[in-house]
Amino acid sequence: MSLPEISPQEVEAKDSAYILGTYARTSFHPRRGKGAQLIDAGGKVYWDLLAGIAVNALGYAHPRLVRAMKEEASKLYHVSNLYYQPAQVLLAEKLITASGMAKVFFCNSGTEAIEASLKFARLATPGRHGVVSFTGSFHGRTFGALSMTGNEGYRAPFEPLVPGTFFIPPNDIAALDAAVNETTSAIVMEPIQGEGGIVPFSDDFLKAARAAADRAGAALILDEIQSGLGRTGSLFVFKQKGIVPDMVTLAKPLGGGLPLGAVLVTERIAALLKPGLHGTTFGGNPVACRLGLELLSELEEKDYPAKVAALGAWFERRLKRLKKVAPGIVDIRGTGLIWGIELDREAAPIAKALLAKGFVVGTARKNVLRLLPPYVVPKKALTAFVDALEVTLKEEVK
Ligand SMILES: Cc1ncc(COP(=O)(O)O)c(C=O)c1O
Repeated sequence: MSLPEISPQEVEAKDSAYILGTYARTSFHPRRGKGAQLIDAGGKVYWDLLAGIAVNALGYAHPRLVRAMKEEASKLYHVSNLYYQPAQVLLAEKLITASGMAKVFFCNSGTEAIEASLKFARLATPGRHGVVSFTGSFHGRTFGALSMTGNEGYRAPFEPLVPGTFFIPPNDIAALDAAVNETTSAIVMEPIQGEGGIVPFSDDFLKAARAAADRAGAALILDEIQSGLGRTGSLFVFKQKGIVPDMVTLAKPLGGGLPLGAVLVTERIAALLKPGLHGTTFGGNPVACRLGLELLSELEEKDYPAKVAALGAWFERRLKRLKKVAPGIVDIRGTGLIWGIELDREAAPIAKALLAKGFVVGTARKNVLRLLPPYVVPKKALTAFVDALEVTLKEEVK
């Protein structure tokens, strides 16, 4: 038994008839994937340089993940968190061993990981509710996470939100020192802002954030949901930066394509959690955890973070060369396999033109092309992308 045959036109008609219009969807109909490629309903093949917005780290139809998914699903596809299950504890052990943090809480998504971390920060700082966050940041769409999200357009229609958030510009140490004080419960930051246009924080700023949190007795929450688990060339961005946060949030690639989020915490935070203070029905689902375990094992065994770092260093040189010859590129930012190409024009029409040429890319802000390819992307796909972008930028794109 499989899904009934349904044409792209029918899919779009039913989507507009039945699904709330919360997404500005592109008329693109991927139906299958293999490695770093997507195949649409008409059989056209694309290089996927977005990976489901940083989810599909091992690309599509990865044999190890497919096998594990079938095996685990045929045993137990859900177990209540009232009981024990092996996949969850084995993934937890792997995450804790690799990160050096003390304990993990599992949930289903990035926004839930942020919610949990904010609650844990409150437990660690009784009586305080201030949060220092950053302009251009993105932490999710639920009320707590939205309250810390530095995008006025996302927040304004839903105010009043959770009170007490102060937004400061990224990499402004004076603003940080002025904002963090004895009312601050947490500093929340992405080490590299994703939605904000691929904006990295400097090592000095991360160290200053750690110091400011320590001085004020606040928790430092690093949101590695988009940048973590190998994308920057390290399983954990904080390990590259020489700081230890109080909490790290993870999601996107963690469940190998299935919904899974996590908060890793230090011993001090772990000691504050007691039964009943937080929980979820689905978080830590056995199939998702099994995929997470296989994903992390594959990344480790095949040394993917080192491969991503090397590929990223090569790609940076290619992009910088492109900037010299192609019109309209204002800035190139990123590392590993997280890149922003800032343009002097709107990015959406360029992304659309690239899609027609067989490349799936994302956008961020109005004028940034966002690339988050799977770690299995071959060099030839990136080379072909650079050539296609050069042609596209030279064309008259409306
Ligand atoms: C850095 C960051 N934090 C949080 C989120 C929210 O994650 P989710 O969409 O899984 O709720 C995202 C999603 O794009 C993200 O990039």
